[in-house]
Amino acid sequence: MTKILDYTREDAGQPPSLFPAYASTVARSPREPLVRIPQTLTETTGPADWSALMGESKADLTRQHAAAPLGQRIIVSGRVLDEAHRPVPNTVVEIWQANAAGRYIHKKDQWDAPLDPNFTGAGRVITDAEGRYRYVTVRPGAYPWRNHYNAWRPSHIHLSLLGPAFATRLVTQMYFPDDPLIPIDPIAGAVPEAYRQRMVSRFDLATTQPDWALGYLFDIVLRGPDATPMGI
Ligand SMILES: [Fe+2]
Repeated sequence: MTKILDYTREDAGQPPSLFPAYASTVARSPREPLVRIPQTLTETTGPADWSALMGESKADLTRQHAAAPLGQRIIVSGRVLDEAHRPVPNTVVEIWQANAAGRYIHKKDQWDAPLDPNFTGAGRVITDAEGRYRYVTVRPGAYPWRNHYNAWRPSHIHLSLLGPAFATRLVTQMYFPDDPLIPIDPIAGAVPEAYRQRMVSRFDLATTQPDWALGYLFDIVLRGPDATPMGI
């Protein structure tokens, strides 16, 4: 059986549960000391073959409807790696994101930006033998949120990872290089500055396709000294 190492969210480089500038953490962060739940078969096991359970991958978010969505077409790819930078295959990498105008298809998202009938904003793939994943999508727009006066989220893609056991689910966000909203965003700011760059993708000419799409690279390190900030 795979041994799951101890993990606390207060590890260096990980965002704290309570970060008052990110207002909703005040209400939802634990008030009492955390209780360690024993790992049993339920937590340390999972389906052996995610692809059999989840069906076809949804790797191209620009071809889920009758026509192409509006916006800048991009290719986001990378690898899922362990603490020694070894590839982690058979990991479910799900994404969700706003459309190019910064709007989600969600009843609570009612700000004055258009929905795109050709864009849902959700995808799901499974890493290959080399830990690789690849998405085609559009660059999400920035959007306002009511955390504080004139608050805008930087462009970002939400990611959820699920490994071989149910207890291995991790959630993070990917940003785009040189976005001026990152330094003033309390969600990105919950991650100590020295580690924040780990959530920022890298523009990559090698995966950029001529006359078609810009390439961005984003590797996800699950744990260890280079771990990607999670839980946000
Ligand atoms: Fe978001």
